[in-house]
Amino acid sequence: MNKNFWEEQSKQNKLCFLAPMDWYWDSAYRQTMRKIAPHVFLISEFYSADGLCYSKFLKDAVLPHETIEDPLVIQIFWKDPEMFAKAAKIISEEKYNIAGIDVNMWCPAKKVVRSGHGSSLLINECTAFSIIEELDKATHLPITVKTRLSFDWNQDLIKFGKWLQKAWCRLLTIHWRTAKQAYTWVANHEPIYELQEALDIPVIANWDILNYKMWMEKVKNLAWFMIGRWSFWNPWCFLSDQHNPDNITDPELKKQYSHLDPKNFVDGLYYPTLKEILDIMLFHAQALVDNKWEKRWSLEIRKHLVQYLKNFPWVKVYRKRLVTTESYENSVIIINEIAETFKDFLDKRPGLEEITKDDLDFLE
Ligand SMILES: Cc1cc2nc3c(=O)[nH]c(=O)nc-3n(C[C@H](O)[C@H](O)[C@H](O)COP(=O)(O)O)c2cc1C
Repeated sequence: MNKNFWEEQSKQNKLCFLAPMDWYWDSAYRQTMRKIAPHVFLISEFYSADGLCYSKFLKDAVLPHETIEDPLVIQIFWKDPEMFAKAAKIISEEKYNIAGIDVNMWCPAKKVVRSGHGSSLLINECTAFSIIEELDKATHLPITVKTRLSFDWNQDLIKFGKWLQKAWCRLLTIHWRTAKQAYTWVANHEPIYELQEALDIPVIANWDILNYKMWMEKVKNLAWFMIGRWSFWNPWCFLSDQHNPDNITDPELKKQYSHLDPKNFVDGLYYPTLKEILDIMLFHAQALVDNKWEKRWSLEIRKHLVQYLKNFPWVKVYRKRLVTTESYENSVIIINEIAETFKDFLDKRPGLEEITKDDLDFLE
């Protein structure tokens, strides 16, 4: 991957990112996301730079990945430039085929801030800039940063962005809140538009974006966008009319989206059928079990499988079983049972077509 990768990409397309989410977006989820929406760029959850340097276990667990995840960016956090540079050398090893390194200047957790990592770099500006400079020197990969509007409203975002750009940060993601605000709502979105105006590198916006359609209404001058929590609740949220195979003329591109049914694009959104949802649950479960050992797998799959069924009040009984599943085989049995029980409804699109109480008589 060359250092101008993001600049080149931004000239070709408006693209979108899956936001990094610790404990949620592992390799299995990333594979699932790419299967649904091949245009989504992927950034790993954050790993500590010293962990990657000193823990063989961590390195072996997180850097190897599946081809479907390429190009994959690895996010790291720490506080001193030397450790970052050391970790960058490991991440850049050819055998891992990683596409870029993202620096976490985002995390607002007290423990992280107190130890000088994450969003505290917004107030330790000199350290922040030398981290990027040292990283850029240490690797052939493009360096990007994910941060916030400010730590507590007292920082000058444009000045900060300009210095990062000067230190060779190649793309900047801004989460639309300050570190002090954590997840509370902020109404003023203007600073990020002003930031993009002032910088040459692409600026990505990240904040409560529900789907691609909503983004198109808010984009203004911004380059790209990033969705986190909403993709957990609806992994199809990155799809819009332009991904409808009927609207794609390039044969290669059309092939990439051929798994999507044109009739499920409604009013700029994609509504998967129950069958598509169950198939993706099986794919995700299989990818997880291929990547993690059984005990860890069974704990992790629980939170995902129930989310897939969020819009299905009529599968309450299965939801209960899915949150307590203890093995892959058991999860597959439950998913297949749902498919069998609802075989007459597999073409229904939850969220668009409601199932009436009369339809469910057979469950009584
Ligand atoms: C459970 C959880 C874990 C997260 N882990 C990370 C992380 O590892 N690195 C990071 O930069 N942001 C992390 N974030 C923040 C998200 O990437 C994103 O900035 C945030 O959720 C706001 O975007 P959203 O409104 O689209 O969800 C995390 C958020 C949540 C809820």
